[in-house]
Amino acid sequence: MKMQVIDLHEKESCDVGNCIAPQTLWPSLPQASITNIEEGVVVLNDQQQVLIDKLTRGSSRRDVVSIVGMPGIGKTTLAFKVYNDPEVVCYFHIRAWCRVSQAYSRRSLLLDILRHIIELNDTILAMSNEGLDLVLYKHLKKNRYLIFMDDMWSIRAWDDFKISFPDDGNGSRILMTSRLCDVVSKVTPECNLLSLRLLSDDESWELLKLKIFHQESYPEELFEVGTEIARNCKGLPLSVVAIAGILNSTSKEYESWKQIAESLDSLIVGDQQTRCMDILELSYKNLPGDLKACFLYFTALEEDKEISVSKLIRLWMAEGFIQKEASNSLEGLAKDYLMDLIGRSLIIVTKRRSMRGSKHVGFTTLCVACAC
Ligand SMILES: Nc1ncnc2c1ncn2[C@@H]1O[C@H](COP(=O)(O)OP(=O)(O)OP(=O)(O)O)[C@@H](O)[C@H]1O
Ligand SMILES: [Mg+2]
Repeated sequence: MKMQVIDLHEKESCDVGNCIAPQTLWPSLPQASITNIEEGVVVLNDQQQVLIDKLTRGSSRRDVVSIVGMPGIGKTTLAFKVYNDPEVVCYFHIRAWCRVSQAYSRRSLLLDILRHIIELNDTILAMSNEGLDLVLYKHLKKNRYLIFMDDMWSIRAWDDFKISFPDDGNGSRILMTSRLCDVVSKVTPECNLLSLRLLSDDESWELLKLKIFHQESYPEELFEVGTEIARNCKGLPLSVVAIAGILNSTSKEYESWKQIAESLDSLIVGDQQTRCMDILELSYKNLPGDLKACFLYFTALEEDKEISVSKLIRLWMAEGFIQKEASNSLEGLAKDYLMDLIGRSLIIVTKRRSMRGSKHVGFTTLCVACAC
């Protein structure tokens, strides 16, 4: 079986490497879903440079570098920014990544890593885990490699893989992200542990603007109320993105923004996470009825497990969530619903893949992201 694999996070590296542009594989998905991940990134120069230095300088031994911080603070976003940075791309011979998460299968992680390095043909797919370990080891041997392991919940994943990561004294690195400092600090030298900071008020406003107006100019009357909204997110990117989702579904006028600013003001002052949950609730309340049902359906699916877009749409239709409109087919409407949820940042696409001609997505919902 020939799999064609592409991930949005890798789009940036397309200029450097040899991969197919997402638009080729995903002709019918609007750009909005792509810009979510690629364009709208506020670069945290200080943090980014520190990380690049840790990856490309220092010890020649194979070393672990880790980013830690609370849910939604931007660990994965920063890690991918750095993973795709031209300096990093040039420095390492091989780069590969996988998303570990809480419940992972060793085999699928092995295949996830390997598919960045070799083509997963039938022979590879028929191999035992031990065979795959060996293939991975042989390909990494004598190469300077960077393996990015996103979202570590226990050190078991490291124990499972470290034998396949040779140490040739050539500066290879494993980059990890985790909410749990205790977990990664067991395998990360203290000097390689980066505790991610919150956004400044200016950066929050920058992010809000990017998510709503992209690179375009915005009405001046929205400056004051916009900065107030951004400030009220208390530096958590996830909160900013959720609010941007609400603002994107209302008119870009002072009165509508003021109303949202007031609902934010009325939230009880709590810690960042409580506030974030409150903002997500606000986001949910702002959904039209049909979309609420479609969104809630995601909670019945397993996070990170891929689902084909057409299957998801069929499931929604079978549940009666999609009501016929004269101007659009049920499928067309369901696709619009999916794009709407992505546009509001209530659903984040973590993986995209074309398998035997059908489109699959891995996803996380902001509710799950925040509640874990
Ligand atoms: N610097 C940034 N620029 C633009 N968007 C950002 C930035 N940092 C985070 N975000 C957005 O905030 C949301 C949460 O970010 P991300 O998924 O990177 O957080 P995380 O720390 O990895 O969370 P988790 O612990 O749940 O894995 C995402 O929608 C992401 O696009
Ligand atoms: Mg993450």
